Amino acid sequence: MIPVAGRRILVTGGAGFIGSAVVRGLLARGARVRVLDDQSRGHARRLADLPEVEFREADIRDAPAVQTAVAGMDSVCHLAYVNGTEFFYQRPDVILEVAVKGMINVLDACLAHGVGELLLASSSEVYQRASVVPTPESVPLVVPDLTNPRFSYGGGKIISELLAYHYGHSRLSRVLIVRPHNVYGPDMGHEHVIPQFAERLIRADKATPSGILPFPIQGTGEETRAFIHIDDFTDGFVRVLEQGRHQQIYNIGTDDEVPIAEVAQLVAQALRRSIAIQPGPLQAGSTARRSPDITMLRALGFTPHTPLSEGIRSTVTWYLNAQQA
Ligand SMILES: NC(=O)c1ccc[n+]([C@@H]2O[C@H](COP(=O)([O-])OP(=O)(O)OC[C@H]3O[C@@H](n4cnc5c(N)ncnc54)[C@H](O)[C@@H]3O)[C@@H](O)[C@H]2O)c1
Repeated sequence: MIPVAGRRILVTGGAGFIGSAVVRGLLARGARVRVLDDQSRGHARRLADLPEVEFREADIRDAPAVQTAVAGMDSVCHLAYVNGTEFFYQRPDVILEVAVKGMINVLDACLAHGVGELLLASSSEVYQRASVVPTPESVPLVVPDLTNPRFSYGGGKIISELLAYHYGHSRLSRVLIVRPHNVYGPDMGHEHVIPQFAERLIRADKATPSGILPFPIQGTGEETRAFIHIDDFTDGFVRVLEQGRHQQIYNIGTDDEVPIAEVAQLVAQALRRSIAIQPGPLQAGSTARRSPDITMLRALGFTPHTPLSEGIRSTVTWYLNAQQA
């Protein structure tokens, strides 16, 4: 156990949805936090009430800026990445550039400044169509189709993991990799399934105040995911940082696998509306089932606490208030 209390920690991507929650989690446990973020998708406003956080606006591809940000730290949590499914298809070049140059810049800066500890936020997308569900960390990582731009995201994460693991092998004292699985919560942006369902249903509710709302979705609705609330995620993340073993990889998620149709129904219930789900085609490259095996994380004392219905209710309320503001 290496408590984060008193440690100086750089969080790249710390103005993002997950990064800002991690920053709060680290501060609450007594760490001193610096953030590097270019605000391309994150917002410094997420940290506006935290004057103790040192904010550096910089691009992770800018090697000198990363060197300066890493100097003086005990530890780096690397989360800066281009996220959001739509971007995978639109800008695979940028996704890979940020992934690869960012990871190399972070590793070079850690080595140059004697920072021995690195935690990389990877993704469940490294598994793609996993042969085993719930999926343990040991299954092979795959890029199913090199020509499909969707896999720029997961491919960039696989490259980042390889770099962190092997480039840092003997030169860093502690390399940890986490693979988040479908993290959700208030203020999570617009590109993920829960906010997209919430924003569409909020609009439909306003336009048609009574009756059953038709609700088109991608796929049959039987496709599954396991969602983890941001508060539970942050708890798991800090547990890995404090207790994780060198060169160990941890899924962070829940093993509560739910069909997408149920997610849609929970969003509708949060708005007190009834919906008629209309199945549609799936985007090429989508995965039918995804749920992590979290045995490794549970061994660190992790237990998720937020039921999906409760977490979706508070998330939908946040999006409702944001639209009214
Ligand atoms: N949200 C999820 O469910 C999920 C699942 C798996 C993995 N992840 C990973 O967790 C991390 C955080 O994800 P998130 O959901 O908070 O996304 P996010 O987009 O809210 O956060 C990413 C942050 O990185 C910053 N960033 C992007 N490009 C940058 C660049 N070139 N230089 C500096 N900063 C840059 C953005 O401004 C943003 O603040 C990412 O690495 C993501 O791939 C998230």
